Amino acid sequence: MASDFRMHRRLLAAAARLTAGFALVSAGTAQDVGKPASPIYGVTIPDGYRRWLLIAPASEGEPLNELRVVLGNAVAVEAYTRGTLPFPDGTVLVKLAWKHVASPEFEAATVPGMATTVQVMMKDSKRYPASGGWGFGRFVDGKPADEAEHRTCFACHEARVKDRDYVFTRYAR
Ligand code: HEC
Repeated sequence: MASDFRMHRRLLAAAARLTAGFALVSAGTAQDVGKPASPIYGVTIPDGYRRWLLIAPASEGEPLNELRVVLGNAVAVEAYTRGTLPFPDGTVLVKLAWKHVASPEFEAATVPGMATTVQVMMKDSKRYPASGGWGFGRFVDGKPADEAEHRTCFACHEARVKDRDYVFTRYAR
C-alpha cells in the first residue's frame, strides 16, 4: 500500500513536470508574448518579417530623406497578386526605413544609412473595426512610438487612400 502511494505521488509529480514544460513551450512560441506592443492597437513586430517578399521600394525627399521598403507576408502577397480589395484578415505589411546616403564607394548611388523606423499594418477586421480593420504599429529601435503618434496613422491613411483599403503601396512588378 505504502509503496503504491509513493509510486502514485511520483507519477503525479512527473505529470506536473510535463505539463509545466508544455506551458512554458506554448507561452514561449505564442507570437505576441513578451514583445513590445504599440499603444492603442497592441501590434508587435512580426517574427521572421525580414524573409517576407518585396511589395515595393519607396524614396522620400526632404526633410526625412529616407529609403523605404514595404514587405508583405504570404496573405498580403496573395492579395496583391489577385489584385482584389479589401485585403483579407491575416494580411500584414511591414515598412522598413533608412536615412539615404551617398555610397562611399560610388557617389551617384544612394544607399541605406542609419535605420529609422519599422512600421506595421495588420488586418484583423474584428479586432480593429474603428480603423478600417487595420492595426498600426510604429517602432524605433524596436520600441513602440507613443500614443499621440499612433493617433496619426489611420487619419493620414484614411484621408489619402481610403478607396484602396487604406494602403498606399502598389505592387512593384
Ligand atoms: C502623413 C501621412 C502618413 C501618416 C501620418 C502615416 N503614414 Fe503610413 N504611409 C504613408 C505613405 C505616403 C505611405 C507609402 C509609402 C511611403 O511613401 O513611405 C505609407 C505606408 C505605410 C505602410 C506600408 C503600407 C502602405 O499603406 O503603403 C505602413 C505599414 C504604414 N504606412 C504604417 C504607418 C503607421 C504605423 C503609422 C502611424 C505611426 C503611419 N503609417 C502614419 C503616409 C502616412
